[in-house]
Amino acid sequence: MSRSLMSRLPQALALFAGCLSVSAAQSSAEDLWPLQTYKSSSIQTPVMNVTKMGQTEPGYLFFTPEDIIRGDGYPAIYSDDGQLVWQGPNASYSALQPQMLDGEPVIALWTGYAGQGFGFGHISILNSSYDEIHRVTLSCKEQNFVTVFESMEFDSCIDIHESQFTDSGTILVTAVNVTQADLSSVGGPKDGWIQDGLIYEIDIKTNEILFRWSTHEHLDEAPLSEVYAPLEGSGGNKTDPYGYPHLNAVYKYGDDYLVSSRYMCSVFFIAPNGTLNWHLHGRTGGDFHLGLGTSFCYQHDVRFESQTPERVTLSMHNNDNTDFTGATALTTGLVLDVELQGSKQVTLKSRMWDADEPVYAQSQGSYQVLGNGHVLQDHGATPKIEEYDENGRIVMRARFGYDNTMQTYRAYRYPWVGRPSTKPSVVACPSSKSGKTAVYVSWNGATDVQSWKVYSGSQVKKTATRNGFETTILVDGLSSKDQIVVEAVGGVNDGERSATVTIGQGC
Ligand SMILES: *[C@@H]1O[C@H](CO)[C@@H](O)[C@H](O)[C@H]1NC(C)=O
Ligand SMILES: *[C@@H]1O[C@H](CO)[C@@H](O)[C@H](O)[C@H]1NC(C)=O
Ligand SMILES: *[C@@H]1O[C@H](CO)[C@@H](O)[C@H](O)[C@H]1NC(C)=O
Ligand SMILES: *[C@@H]1O[C@H](CO)[C@@H](O)[C@H](O)[C@H]1NC(C)=O
Ligand SMILES: *[C@@H]1O[C@H](CO)[C@@H](O)[C@H](O)[C@H]1NC(C)=O
Ligand SMILES: *[C@@H]1O[C@H](CO)[C@@H](O)[C@H](O)[C@H]1NC(C)=O
Repeated sequence: MSRSLMSRLPQALALFAGCLSVSAAQSSAEDLWPLQTYKSSSIQTPVMNVTKMGQTEPGYLFFTPEDIIRGDGYPAIYSDDGQLVWQGPNASYSALQPQMLDGEPVIALWTGYAGQGFGFGHISILNSSYDEIHRVTLSCKEQNFVTVFESMEFDSCIDIHESQFTDSGTILVTAVNVTQADLSSVGGPKDGWIQDGLIYEIDIKTNEILFRWSTHEHLDEAPLSEVYAPLEGSGGNKTDPYGYPHLNAVYKYGDDYLVSSRYMCSVFFIAPNGTLNWHLHGRTGGDFHLGLGTSFCYQHDVRFESQTPERVTLSMHNNDNTDFTGATALTTGLVLDVELQGSKQVTLKSRMWDADEPVYAQSQGSYQVLGNGHVLQDHGATPKIEEYDENGRIVMRARFGYDNTMQTYRAYRYPWVGRPSTKPSVVACPSSKSGKTAVYVSWNGATDVQSWKVYSGSQVKKTATRNGFETTILVDGLSSKDQIVVEAVGGVNDGERSATVTIGQGC
């Protein structure tokens, strides 16, 4: 890992820098991933290269492209042809997840301060107008959180890794608390320090805490000796605590909580009283016997695909790599059958990867089950989103950066109708070559505009089909200093108009 690059990264945006290895050579200008720019908007967004080899499921792509070199991060929605649909403001983001709340599609999104692979912040819930309608917080003071950033104060101590809703109006999140632990079983000091991993269930509207679970308080069931991350000199003091257990996914099934620990290569299923119903360890098996091809480690986004009292089927993004292992093992989407009774056997159900462009993802990533047996997989530190069909065949590859220079924690495909509360944005410039006026129009966040109508006074000068984030419309018979208005045609925003713009202004 290049300390020199890390030290140049703005700390707030170096979200996962602790998990990355970026060589100094990669940060030169010619290696910067190209950005798409526009005339009618100051937005700049990574170019997304989409290759399709088959039919994909409907829906937009939701993720948080973070440019580690330039220090920019955004929540974003793209269409399948690689066009930007929406970009939010530049800040430090994670755990973006489109979901349903009170029957309405919303976006849950972590924002705050992050570094060393975890963070302290809150979850914003945005409605389809991209306005914050709820802010989920977890008081650092009331919960007595201890952070590594001693000089800083945080209002809310929600970690970067999870933003999963339940169907009873609550949200599941993770949190990190610095605390003391005996590290002698992993070769560290007896009075060592760890990043305790906690999970919380919080009421979205009232911020009331309904459930809290600390890994450190269950050391007997989740022992330090089963951690696969080396100490590497950490754990000796409060500002460099050992990464145990690094929790990165939580889901609630019935009254029980499914939890993923990256550094323990483990999946826990926790009862409401806090005891472990069972523990699946990706290297040793834990309570189970690992069958052929079922080994996993450093995984993300563990979920059940199905659950009965006898058997669960688990899916995950199996990184199998970290910064300390290097990019050596193939990263795959993994689906496992786990017999909860009797044989306690773990059987491989499916394993998917892109044979033409294999990925060795050192951090982050997600695995989303779509309709018709399709799967969307995001590769985190390898900035690539893939879709697979019901036969495990790759049908889409979407790259938005070079490895380890651009990243997104997770990515989702989701249906969406955007209803921006802003107006369409327009710039009109005289074109010396054609003698026409080039009208550029965009509307950040709008999804279903079909065409744009250009007015001069009450006269329609031209109607043009919308073409991606920004449409260019060449109009005859306008002269410099003329004024125009552009109107959206079709969809939920039908008839919305831009402000009046003067030709030549802002060109
Ligand atoms: C995007 O894909 C196109 C077509 O395959 C290729 O020519 C181009 O180099 C790619 N862009 C980047 C930045 O890799
Ligand atoms: C985004 O914010 C970061 C941190 O404040 C800053 O360094 C960067 O220049 C910003 N990027 C843009 C495009 O404004
Ligand atoms: C989104 O929330 C804002 C602020 O509460 C509200 O004005 C707007 O109407 C909402 N949009 C939708 C589509 O509900
Ligand atoms: C964090 O750890 C400290 C001890 O280091 C403890 O006093 C505090 O209660 C813990 N907070 C949480 C949220 O577990
Ligand atoms: C904490 O330990 C790290 C080594 O892991 C060391 O670099 C750092 O200086 C120590 N900080 C303090 C305040 O002792
Ligand atoms: C906690 O709940 C589990 C599962 O219902 C049960 O088996 C266990 O006995 C309970 N433990 C305690 C300490 O109550």
